[in-house]
Amino acid sequence: MSKLLFIETLGCAMNSRDTEHMIAELTEKEGFVMTNDFKVADLILINTCSVRERPVHKLFSELGGFNKHKKPHAKIGVCGCTASHLGKEIIKRAPYVNFVLGARNVSKISEIIHKDKAVEIDINYDDSEFAFKDFRSSPFKGFINISMGCDKSCTYCIVPKTRGDEISIPDALIINEAKRLVSIGAKEIFLLGQNVNNYGRRFSGEHEDVNFTELLRRLSKIEELERIRFTSPHPFHMDDEFIEEFSSNPKICKSMHMPLQSGSTKVLKDMKRGYSKEWFLNRVNKLKTMCPEATISTDIIVGFPGESDEDFEDTLDVMKTVEFDQIFSFKYSPRPETEAQYFKNVVDEELASSRLTFLQSLHNEIMDKNNAKLLGNTYRVYFEDLHSDGHAAGRSDNNIVVKVKGSEELLGQFRDVKITAIGRTILTGEIVA
Ligand code: SAH
Ligand code: SF4
Ligand code: F3S
Repeated sequence: MSKLLFIETLGCAMNSRDTEHMIAELTEKEGFVMTNDFKVADLILINTCSVRERPVHKLFSELGGFNKHKKPHAKIGVCGCTASHLGKEIIKRAPYVNFVLGARNVSKISEIIHKDKAVEIDINYDDSEFAFKDFRSSPFKGFINISMGCDKSCTYCIVPKTRGDEISIPDALIINEAKRLVSIGAKEIFLLGQNVNNYGRRFSGEHEDVNFTELLRRLSKIEELERIRFTSPHPFHMDDEFIEEFSSNPKICKSMHMPLQSGSTKVLKDMKRGYSKEWFLNRVNKLKTMCPEATISTDIIVGFPGESDEDFEDTLDVMKTVEFDQIFSFKYSPRPETEAQYFKNVVDEELASSRLTFLQSLHNEIMDKNNAKLLGNTYRVYFEDLHSDGHAAGRSDNNIVVKVKGSEELLGQFRDVKITAIGRTILTGEIVA
């Protein structure tokens, strides 16, 4: 009988990729087979996120549930960003946990499962050239890490403490991985890093000078590769050369994530984001001028310490000016090991909540207005998902999610789709070619 592995993944795309790496190592080296039911699993892993407080609370209640209902000899491992930041504290609070593996130590997964009460959370550990085994959750597109860690010091953010300093992965490894993905049928790659456009700043060994724009150029030479996406670029590093390559290279998908965080130059300074409201708007302007078809998404934090009504107005002002196609908005959550946890002028919880609600309802209006303009347009859609209601779904180059009536034979295919009905998160269309 095979050993069964259950993994729950919280957090961002980097965690999803780490999960794929762990699955690959455990299935290929250790003979595990995946299960969706933790009650029958021999090994239960939870890949955690600590960017806000809520998921950390959730971790301990979930661990309690795993422990109560698991098979008697099943092991439980806590991996990812909360593992990095709480370390052995996790075993203190939940003594039945067998091991703790930090976000920077994923390559050690097949060793640590054989140990008990082991804690591997060294954020200086260098995985950047580790040759992971391979597992892909989608045959149609593949995530590729291009860097690990983060060299910024945004005052609200715990990520540099959980993932360590930024190291770029050599471009030859990235290109080989992209080629391999293409050879097994993927037409789209998704490049991942906390600051993708800071790529090339530091490699772990000697390496020629390759910046992100050059990496994009090199990747786009892979013949059968049709689409390149990436996240997250940092507004500070959006130089002209990068925006020009983005706009003119037909393989780069025309959807840009521009994490604003706040529209107030004062708050941005307190956050140590390295750009002003004016710089952000200038970059958006350049992008919209060079590439009018690009959609723009963003991340916004409301209720950062010291955020006044005027500061919040600045954020609303940027929202109205840019008309973001998609926003991910959060109430500020104080995090351990960050500067901002000590900041005075904490914004009242209720005020922060009402700002968030207001921001989100303003964005819904913007989205409804933007979406209404899409009716009747035709997009080239790459199909990658099946819905249970007889629809297949995919994305346009500029990241519009569209579903059409259809089944398996559409998966992995490009089709021209005309939009026939509008919805908030997904549009409906019909295939025209
Ligand atoms: N490297 C990416 C962000 C990674 S974290 C970037 O710089 O854009 C993802 C998002 O979580 C951030 O963009 C931010 O909006 C949000 N976030 C990070 N720390 C937070 C905190 N302490 N409270 C609330 N939201 C936070
Ligand atoms: Fe966090 Fe800032 Fe790094 Fe993004 S750039 S991961 S927000 S420290
Ligand atoms: Fe990602 Fe959460 Fe870690 S957002 S980098 S999994 S703290």
